Amino acid sequence: MGVSLLSSPAFLVFFSFSTFCLLADPVLGITRHYKFDIKLHNVTRLCHTKSIVSVNGKFPGPRIVAREGDRLLIKVVNHVANNITIHWHGIRQLRSGWADGPAYVTQCPIQTGQSYVYNFTIVGQRGTLFWHAHISWLRATVYGPIVILPKRGIPYPFAKPYREVPVIFGEWFNADPEAIISQALQTGGGPNVSDAYTINGLPGPLYNCSSKDTFKLKVKPGKTYLLRLINAALNDELFFGIANHTLTVVDVDAIYVKPFETETLLIAPGQTTNVILKTKPSYPNATFFMTARPYVTGQGTFDNSTVAGILEYKSPPNSLHSSNSIKKLPLFKPILPALNDTSFATNFASKLRSLDSAQYPANVPRKVDKHFFFTVGLGTSPCQHNQTCQGPNGTKFSASINNVSFAMPTTALLQAHFFGQSNGVYTPNFPCSPIIPFNYTGTPPNNTMVSNGTKVVVLPFNTSVELVMQDTSILGAESHPLHLHGFNFFVVGQGFGNFDPNKDPANFNLIDPIERNTVAIRFLADNPGVWFMHCHLEVHTSWGLKMAWIVLDGEFPNQKLLPPPADLPKC
Ligand code: C2O
Repeated sequence: MGVSLLSSPAFLVFFSFSTFCLLADPVLGITRHYKFDIKLHNVTRLCHTKSIVSVNGKFPGPRIVAREGDRLLIKVVNHVANNITIHWHGIRQLRSGWADGPAYVTQCPIQTGQSYVYNFTIVGQRGTLFWHAHISWLRATVYGPIVILPKRGIPYPFAKPYREVPVIFGEWFNADPEAIISQALQTGGGPNVSDAYTINGLPGPLYNCSSKDTFKLKVKPGKTYLLRLINAALNDELFFGIANHTLTVVDVDAIYVKPFETETLLIAPGQTTNVILKTKPSYPNATFFMTARPYVTGQGTFDNSTVAGILEYKSPPNSLHSSNSIKKLPLFKPILPALNDTSFATNFASKLRSLDSAQYPANVPRKVDKHFFFTVGLGTSPCQHNQTCQGPNGTKFSASINNVSFAMPTTALLQAHFFGQSNGVYTPNFPCSPIIPFNYTGTPPNNTMVSNGTKVVVLPFNTSVELVMQDTSILGAESHPLHLHGFNFFVVGQGFGNFDPNKDPANFNLIDPIERNTVAIRFLADNPGVWFMHCHLEVHTSWGLKMAWIVLDGEFPNQKLLPPPADLPKC
C-alpha cells in the first residue's frame, strides 16, 4: 500500500513578542503536578492472579487531566526491579524532548529506586491521548488516559456532552508479558498471544471466570456522552461498536475532525478517538453490549476473542425496574465486521477528515523540501550458533524500515546528539529510499534477511518532509500503525499496491487530510530533538520496525532544544 504522510501544524512563536503575549494572556495555562509510583500490584482476571507492574496500584493507571496550554510536572518513582520509562503518547513535546520517554531514545531508563520528573507543556492539542511505559512490553499493564480539555472558556466545536467517559482498550495476558517477549526474541518465533481484550481493565462476560469483571457504562436517556476511546492494546487493531446505538466521531489523536456517524469504529494500537453517544430518548427496557474484537491482516496466530462491556440505562425514578430486573431485560449485541474486513477498514479510514475550520485549520505543508520513501515490513535474521529457530524456515522473525532493523543503543540517542557524542552510538545514514528496489507487493525476493544498525535521518530545522511508507509483502502484507513521536502528520494519500511516484501524488488530499500521530505522511520538522518512529504493534517494534529522526536546532533561541533536566536518568 502506498501511504504518504504529511505532518503538521506550523506552530512557530517568535520569542520576545510572544513572551510578552503569554504574560498578558488571560487564558494562560496552569501547572499541574502528578506523582506516579511504579509498584507491583496483584490483579486477578480470568481466575489468574498475578503481580503486575502498575502506577499507584491502579490498573489501568490514573487519569491525567489537563487543559490545552497547561504545564505538567509528573514525578515518576520506580519501586520495582524493572527499569521503567513513561511516554506521553501523542504529546508534541515542543522543545521538551527530554520528557518524551522512549527508553534509549530520549532518556536512559529510570532504574530501581530512582525518580525522574517529566516536565512538558501541552500546546495546540485538545482531545484524548494516553500515557504508557515505553520499555520492552511493560506497557501491557502500565498505561492510562490523558484527557486534554480545551482552554478555559473555549467550547468544543460540538454540543457540550452531559458526561465524558474514558474507554481504554487493553490486552490481558495470564502469563507475564515480559517473559513472553523475551522468550520470543530468543526462539525467533512469534510471541504467545493475549488471553483477553479488556475495556478499562475488564475482560467482560464472554470469557470464562470473568462476568464479575465487566465494564458498565450507566447512562440516562436523552443525553449525550463523550466516549474517549483509546487503544492501548499491544498488538491488535480493534473493531468497536455498541448495539443499537450510532456513534459520532468528533476527534482523533487530539485533533478535531469533520463529524461523521458510524455504527462501528476501527482503532489501531496507539490511536485515540472521541465519539459522541446519544442515548435513546426514553428508557429502552433493554441493555446493550459494547464489544471489541480484532481486525487482523497478518498470517500468524492472534487472539480472536471478544471483550464486552454493558451499556445500562438507569431505571427511571418511581419505576418498577430495580437493579435486579435489569438482569431480566433483553440484551442486544452489536454486529462487528468480519475479522479480516479490509474493505470496512479502507472505507472507515477514508471518512476521517480534519475539521479544517477557521479556528482549527489544517495547515498542510504545500511545498516539500525532502522526499523519503520507506519500505516497512517483516523479514528474517539468522539463527545464532547454527541452531534452528522458530521463525520462517528456521530463522528468526525480524522487521525493518528500508531493510534496516533498528538496533537499540545502550545510551540515549538524545543525550548523544545534544552533547555531540554520537560516535559509537548512532550513524546519520538512514537510507532515504530502499537500497535495492524490488516489487514490494509482488513475489518477495529470495533473500529476506534484514540488515541491522542504529541509523537515523538528520533534518535541518523547519524542513518540510514528505514520507511515503510502503508496506512489503515479505512474509505476508500486514498493517503497520506507524507512530511518529514529536509531530502530528497529515495523511495526504493512501492506497493499495506499489506507490507510483508519477501518478499517485495527483490524488493527494492537501485540503483536509486527517491529522494523526499513528499511520502513514507530509510533516514540518519544527521540533528540535530526537524523535522515535515505530510500528505501534509492539511485536513489530521488538523485531526492529523502528528508526529515529534527528531535527536540528533552528537559529533563534525558541527554536532550540531546551537543556536536559538535572535529574535525567543516566545509563
Ligand atoms: Cu505509544 Cu513510541 O509509542
